[in-house]
Amino acid sequence: MRDKLLGWYEIYKRDLPWRRRGGAYAVLVSEMMLQQTGVETVIRYYEPFLRCFPDVYALAAADEQAVLACWKGLGYYSRARSLHRIAKIVTEEYGGEFPQTAQGWLAMPGVGPYIAGAVMSIAYGKPYPAVDGNVLRVVSRAFALREDITRPSARREAEARVRAMMTDKNAGDLTQALMELGALVCRPSSPGCTDCPWNEDCKARKLGIENELPVRKPRGRARTVALWAALVETEDKVLLCYRGGERLLGRLWGLPVAEKREGAAPETLFFEKYGLKLNAGEMAGTALHVFTHQRWEMDIVRYTTDEQIKPGSSEWQWTHWESIDEKPIPTAFMRILDGERKKRSGACEYNGFR
Ligand code: ADE
Repeated sequence: MRDKLLGWYEIYKRDLPWRRRGGAYAVLVSEMMLQQTGVETVIRYYEPFLRCFPDVYALAAADEQAVLACWKGLGYYSRARSLHRIAKIVTEEYGGEFPQTAQGWLAMPGVGPYIAGAVMSIAYGKPYPAVDGNVLRVVSRAFALREDITRPSARREAEARVRAMMTDKNAGDLTQALMELGALVCRPSSPGCTDCPWNEDCKARKLGIENELPVRKPRGRARTVALWAALVETEDKVLLCYRGGERLLGRLWGLPVAEKREGAAPETLFFEKYGLKLNAGEMAGTALHVFTHQRWEMDIVRYTTDEQIKPGSSEWQWTHWESIDEKPIPTAFMRILDGERKKRSGACEYNGFR
């Protein structure tokens, strides 16, 4: 099975940017990005991120806000913070040397068995399994494993099966070949069994249960949160607020938002939460953003304010429409801001034409 898979990978592997680079730093960056985000999205972020922070020293020396701005749109921002902290630890405490052992990697912030295994195998060629969702699906089917894959014991079983296939010579390729098989052939629905190098070996196929595996306990439904979002504008600027201590999207910038309360006007809620005095507003639209555990249903209100915001305030910033791209503003807010910006530039063109 090992040789069939590696032979298949050699022919069908995609030419992905991180496969042209080597070294622990480049592998770490790609795997941190790929851990919760699809290949198509990561392709757009990977090279620009490495241009901004070409090595571990550049990343360690960077301001956290600059790192988050480069991550903007990828989501799960704690990955970017962990990456940044790892760079600092490695340069400040280990003379720029990345850990050489799985134990060393596991001691780094935000690193679990997946990242440790991915870097050990892909960057160093050591036989450590890296089991992500794709690999869990492939292995569950290949060996007809029926345990719920959200259970840690299912992951450990999959790790053992992968480890049994690994040698010192093939570890990096084997890790990536399993992921590639999951992405290209052994897809979640309608797996392409006729094109699979394991079509004669796959236990699930023999049993005719390939579409029933893997078994996954459904995740609880995301909680719906009804919010007011304030679009506080001047002629050419919009008011952004720093989400310092917030649990969700903390230490990023966004629009002021307040959870709705029966009978309470949005202005009252914004004043209670932020001490922000807003003039009477008008409805500007709605927006929906779905996170893993929350679903934000936002009613957007357009406001002006007479508040004097100190320039350089760490909590509030009047931001030029042209410079919102430079700030770490998550997609939940960027979609609203982009829509608004488009409306404005449309209006401008029209006026220009007239
Ligand atoms: N998903 C996670 N890591 C990957 C990699 N190295 N190549 C392709 N897809 C991946």
